Amino acid sequence: MNFWFWTWCFFLILKCMKSEDRNFRVIVDQVNITNLDRDVYEKFDCEVYHVNNRTYMTSSHTFTRTVDEISVHAALDFYKLNSKQKMKLYDVEFDGCYILEHANKNRLFNMYVKNLKKHSNVKFQCPFKAHVNYEVKNMSMDEQDFPSFVPLGNFRSLIEYIINRKLRARITASGKIIPYATDPFKILT
Ligand SMILES: *[C@@H]1O[C@H](CO)[C@@H](O)[C@H](O)[C@H]1NC(C)=O
Ligand SMILES: *[C@@H]1O[C@H](CO)[C@@H](O)[C@H](O)[C@H]1NC(C)=O
Ligand SMILES: *[C@@H]1O[C@H](CO)[C@@H](O)[C@H](O)[C@H]1NC(C)=O
Repeated sequence: MNFWFWTWCFFLILKCMKSEDRNFRVIVDQVNITNLDRDVYEKFDCEVYHVNNRTYMTSSHTFTRTVDEISVHAALDFYKLNSKQKMKLYDVEFDGCYILEHANKNRLFNMYVKNLKKHSNVKFQCPFKAHVNYEVKNMSMDEQDFPSFVPLGNFRSLIEYIINRKLRARITASGKIIPYATDPFKILT
């Protein structure tokens, strides 16, 4: 299904449900970084940890040289609970520099970029400087940013950074949507 269609649906629903408590939690279990190109990355790591059933993420990137263009390939697959069937929520490629500059034009990215800004030490924007540690500390996911109907299940996310037409890093993450009691009388099954 088309990415922009999903983004649009997502937002429509988000707008209506804004004030409702979410009875699910988004948990990221694992993040792997592979295909790391040492010509471009001096350092790139990412760690997830859990406090009170909430996922927090800390990551740092340092580039060996100035990076003034970065292309991002992002895909998200979802497996509904008790189903082997894969749902492709999106599979897109976009200009990373453009999105960081113009996130406000797309609500989904805006939410992400705003969260990034809140938890980072330096401004994430192109050109990325060489030998500067771009750090994100203790970033968590806010369920209020998700639509309220999110089904329970598992997801797998892929992000690839392509610089000068070459794959420089691949980040795969797996996680799940679990029920979470917002009050003792209401449990999602
Ligand atoms: C975290 O999840 C576990 C298992 O679902 C539950 O027993 C525990 O009470 C939860 N902790 C908090 C702080 O919500
Ligand atoms: C991350 O944030 C949570 C909630 O704000 C806090 O409890 C935790 O101590 C923080 N962890 C670090 C390493 O800063
Ligand atoms: C991460 O790597 C481990 C070891 O290679 C593998 O078992 C696991 O499935 C990977 N997870 C993700 C989310 O890619």
